[in-house]
Amino acid sequence: MSQSEDIFARLKEDHDIHRTLLDKLLETSGDTPERQSLFEELTKELKAHAAAEEQALYSTMMRKPPTTHDTRHSVAEHHEIEEALNDLAATDMATGGWLSKFKEFDHRYRHHIDEEEEEHFPEFADHLTDEDREWMRSVFERRKREEKSEAEITPEKKEDAKE
Ligand SMILES: [Fe+2]
Ligand SMILES: [Fe+2]
Repeated sequence: MSQSEDIFARLKEDHDIHRTLLDKLLETSGDTPERQSLFEELTKELKAHAAAEEQALYSTMMRKPPTTHDTRHSVAEHHEIEEALNDLAATDMATGGWLSKFKEFDHRYRHHIDEEEEEHFPEFADHLTDEDREWMRSVFERRKREEKSEAEITPEKKEDAKE
């Protein structure tokens, strides 16, 4: 099977886009249009990626007993990632607090995608056929497009925001 048909190569392509967006955001400062637009793109991209990844890949891996545990772990992290994005969206970008929260988020997100690539995907690959992997790629492409067109920034209510 060529790499161009494989779900795991496709997910890794997205992860590399995420790493670039994180790098760019770390170089921004204050409440600037550049930081706002990069943060909006990152939010939509990460939410759409996680949702499509769950629909195309994790739903199947959840059903297979040997991979249920790793799948639960990753899906729980998706939930934490979304909460952290909502918390960032509710934090004033002009403050130093935003950048410290963002740095913590950056660290956690990179850990999540490194773990998927280095531990989960190779383990999952042992339980899938080439046909599964091709089919998952096509499901991912379709779902990612749809999820991305609907994704939006959803700030946590101010009173719920963490200090
Ligand atoms: Fe993920
Ligand atoms: Fe991922």
